[in-house]
Amino acid sequence: MEIPNQWFEETAEYIKARLIDIPDTVIVLGSGLGILADEIKNPIVIDYTEIPHFPKSTVVGHAGQLICGLLNYVPVLAMSGRFHYYEGYDINQVTYPVRVFAKLGVKNLILTNAAGGVNLNFEPGDLMVIKDHINFSGVSPLRGPNLDEFGPRFPDMSNLYDEELLRIIEECSGEMGIMINEGVYAYLQGPNYETPSEIKALRTLGADAVGMSTVPEAIVGRHSGLKVAAISCITNMAAGILPRPLDHNEVKEVAEFASRKFISLVTALVVALYNEKNNPKNMLGEGDVKYLDGNVDGE
Ligand code: HPA
Repeated sequence: MEIPNQWFEETAEYIKARLIDIPDTVIVLGSGLGILADEIKNPIVIDYTEIPHFPKSTVVGHAGQLICGLLNYVPVLAMSGRFHYYEGYDINQVTYPVRVFAKLGVKNLILTNAAGGVNLNFEPGDLMVIKDHINFSGVSPLRGPNLDEFGPRFPDMSNLYDEELLRIIEECSGEMGIMINEGVYAYLQGPNYETPSEIKALRTLGADAVGMSTVPEAIVGRHSGLKVAAISCITNMAAGILPRPLDHNEVKEVAEFASRKFISLVTALVVALYNEKNNPKNMLGEGDVKYLDGNVDGE
């Protein structure tokens, strides 16, 4: 589906008109992790159905919502409900919201998901910060005419998952005593789970976790100049590791079970990002030190 260029602007204008301020950070909530939205205080909630040009949800009874409010006193935007390629959307519909966020002036894109553990050292309920991905879907969300106003035709992906955000996530998890692994996420189209042989192959190729989301949004986020971070909740061991079939209900249950620590970590990350930006000490570059000295001396 060809998306007219002015749609991004029109969608962004609508959202801007509904919100008081545009937060710096947006969080995309994965399967079973939606309860983070309940933690957002003073929320302004916009149903996706109200937003011009937003893709129409295929999931009956859960249209999806954009929620803007305060997470531990820090302004955030959250997407409760995302668009998956396996639902039948075109890939540029899957990533449509990310380009709208870029238009809105959002700076940080925090993606979350439920994923299968490929690394044998992982356990269901573990968290994994994504340090890199392997796109096994065969699809790039940047296919088609390049949208030059967002980014270049051939964007570099070598620092897709922002190192600074990765460092902050690891600092936060260390301070809070939340164990977090670092790893490589393999993206497949789904919706079927993988075969045991596919999982063996993915492990050989360097994957630690596997899932059906996140990568299209991450690529478009990077292309649009957003800082991208992504956290997986390992909800199950991937196919063939344990002697039982995979079950989506189990995926949801484990994600809900792990969501407390997940919420704590994401909240800490959002607060740390806010403090980094708003704490004047951290905003000073080296060239500014003299000015600070002068000021301090003068008082
Ligand atoms: N495979 C793919 N996607 C998933 C899995 C899995 O095992 N668990 C949660 N999402």
